[in-house]
Amino acid sequence: VEPGALAGRHVVVTSGPTHEAIDPVRYIANRSSGKQGHAIAAAAAIAGARVTLICGPVMLPDPPGCDVIHVESARDMLAAVEQALPADVFVGAAAVADWRVEAATQKIKKEQGAEAPSFALVENPDILASVARAQNRPRLVVGFAAETTNVIAHAREKLARKGCDLIVANDVSEGSGVFGGDENEAHLVSPIGVESWPRLRKEAVAERLVARLAEILNEKEAA
Ligand code: PMT
Repeated sequence: VEPGALAGRHVVVTSGPTHEAIDPVRYIANRSSGKQGHAIAAAAAIAGARVTLICGPVMLPDPPGCDVIHVESARDMLAAVEQALPADVFVGAAAVADWRVEAATQKIKKEQGAEAPSFALVENPDILASVARAQNRPRLVVGFAAETTNVIAHAREKLARKGCDLIVANDVSEGSGVFGGDENEAHLVSPIGVESWPRLRKEAVAERLVARLAEILNEKEAA
């Protein structure tokens, strides 16, 4: 990335999983480590942006040069993102839980002989779609698509349904090692086409993505 490619820009990135409480001791989670989102935040900071990184529970250190806000649930993440706007660019790399349960305020007890509890799932807010439709919509709204089948087709559908400018699609099938791993194979899906990158370290995916975001912003402003 050119140093200063994002100078003067505010970039908001989400990263990591969300945890959705079941009761005070249990939660629903997923396998996101935050490596990809954190690498994007770090690369944007190196490119000169002011970066706000909003992350779910991860084991990673805060990347240097970023304002980091730690959250737990999808609803907390949405509130933190709304607080962080306005921005020039939003990148939604977090694996946000699509559903939560109505959390119990006390630990759910295992009673002798009683049936296993069952939970009704409630839909979580869609952070990406909400940012893309906000009054103060960032100029560039970038989502991810984590897919296990028909990666490009599903990414195209998400691009349209969530109203974003670009989707970074990645195949997270079992055996791909993308969730939690160090490498990713990304496809950039936009209304004008698909750009497929080879399998790269997540830091390299982040650098390429940040370079493309700087180019796209400049093109949009020149238009
Ligand atoms: O964290 P790592 O271990 O490095 O792994 C990286 C990753 C696989 C998590 C990452 O590259 C990735 O794909 N992130 C998006 C994961 C995901 O939740 O994808 P999705 O296809 O379910 O969601 C599509 C988009 O909508 C994403 O930008 C997501 O952040 C957003 N979303 C989804 C649901 C929701 N309620 N709110 C959202 O904003």
